[in-house]
Amino acid sequence: MSSSAAAFLAALWRRWGAPPPGAPASADATFPLFRRIGGSAESIYVEWSPRTLSRLLVEELPGVEIMVVSNREPYIHNRTSDGGVVLQLPASGLVSALEPVMRTCGGTWIAHGSGSADRDMVDAHDRLRVPPAHPDYTLRRIWLSEEEIDGHYYGFSNEGLWPLCHIAFVRPLFRAEDWEAYRAVNQKFADVVVAEAGREDPIVLVQDYHFALLPRMIRNALPKATIITFWHIPWPNGETFGICPWREEIIDGLLGSTVLGFHTRQHCNNFLESTDRFMESRIDREHGSVTLRGRETLIRPYPISIEWPPAALATQAPVAECRRAVRARLGLADDVRIAVGIERFDYTKGILDRMAAVHDLLTQHPQWREKIVFIQAAAPTRSKLGAYEKLQSDAVRLADAINAAHGTAAWKPIHLVIRHHDQREVYELFRAADVCVVSSLHDGMNLVAKEFVASRDDEQGVLVLSSFAGASRELSEALIVNPYDTRAMADAFAAALRMPEAEQRDRLRLMRDVVRQRNVHRWAAQMLIDAARIRRRETIQALSAED
Ligand code: G6P
Repeated sequence: MSSSAAAFLAALWRRWGAPPPGAPASADATFPLFRRIGGSAESIYVEWSPRTLSRLLVEELPGVEIMVVSNREPYIHNRTSDGGVVLQLPASGLVSALEPVMRTCGGTWIAHGSGSADRDMVDAHDRLRVPPAHPDYTLRRIWLSEEEIDGHYYGFSNEGLWPLCHIAFVRPLFRAEDWEAYRAVNQKFADVVVAEAGREDPIVLVQDYHFALLPRMIRNALPKATIITFWHIPWPNGETFGICPWREEIIDGLLGSTVLGFHTRQHCNNFLESTDRFMESRIDREHGSVTLRGRETLIRPYPISIEWPPAALATQAPVAECRRAVRARLGLADDVRIAVGIERFDYTKGILDRMAAVHDLLTQHPQWREKIVFIQAAAPTRSKLGAYEKLQSDAVRLADAINAAHGTAAWKPIHLVIRHHDQREVYELFRAADVCVVSSLHDGMNLVAKEFVASRDDEQGVLVLSSFAGASRELSEALIVNPYDTRAMADAFAAALRMPEAEQRDRLRLMRDVVRQRNVHRWAAQMLIDAARIRRRETIQALSAED
């Protein structure tokens, strides 16, 4: 750097009130600097971690009460056949993202108590402290009847909104009785939020498509609350969204939020377009906000992520050992390469499409016969619903057909393992893999892609990633594919298997940087920074109204 450039930079740093480059980092430098330049998480790099996140809370939101509301709970207690109790951690991207945040922030997480032993583990107020081994926050369980679960969870949430928002060509089903149950369950949760709130102005983090009506219900009961709603799945364009019979109520419910977050700018734009079509409101596209009946809601992209480094990595064996363990378990020869796919058994994930691509690879590139296996770990999910049941049986049939077409007595190309895998097993599979395939037909973000990248501290392995997963906006060094194009996906597998180690390293290094910097603590921090700024602004407005 020239000396004049260095002097210019030093002057700038002085103006911002921070030490010049090269000066020893002061523990106090981060947030004052960050405030001076406008308080936007985009404007400066901060290494987000549990420590910086809790510091943000202390400095920017002192004494604040944080509440999370989600359908799925972070800890499920189930009864075993011998009468014991087993603790299950659910396969939910939402839960894996929010759990580290709550461990840092404390507060109360309100969720449906879905485990068969859940009632036996709570106190008289339906609360328990979690994580059970080292409690950091309170879990408040809500009990739902079979009818409520059928209408709210299976019905309107998963047969209506889920296929409506994920364009995966499964027809959404809208039943008036499901909608009624959806509304009643949203009200039930709202009542508990109000009862649990220790003050009139908590920050309530409302999670996902199970609770579109909740923000408005909370707003009516707690007008001073800061309500930050995050929609973890895509939002379709206005024309598609318009087929929902209760589109106005859903948008109105969400606009009870102070801030409404999506993973990508595209989903924000789709929401604004839907609002424009169906609501009498004022939309400020420049500022990204909607004003309805005099109250403004910010519409913001907050790309969700994972913790860095992921806790599950700490107990993992070296990569070579993981590979040995997986090979031994599946009886694979040493020269057989490994591709993996790991997710809930959901029709949005493109599981059939990637199996078809394996078939195409073995047909078009026969040199890979007996030289590759594809391991699909699939956790059964929402199995009561027809579309999910059909996917499972179609997948088993397709895997059998491909194995029959290409397999030999000693080798089968597809290993379909249908069961829940815990984080230790998931990370072992990632670390054993030459290729990880994420071929979602549509996905809000997809944390599997980020977990694979994070799991490879050896900087080896190739990610094949759907262009229709939000993660493809950030992980551009993956091999980006259209999962509907079987041939292109097969070619991407072949390219992944041929990729030189140096190129794998170059690509993974860039992606690991992105996942490290844009980790889940940053995701939470961005929302909390926006909440802090809005609360300050509201205080100023209230004071000037008094004058
Ligand atoms: C997606 C949704 C979450 C949900 C998860 C698991 O990630 O966005 O809200 O928790 O799937 O699905 P489940 O129906 O088992 O909660």
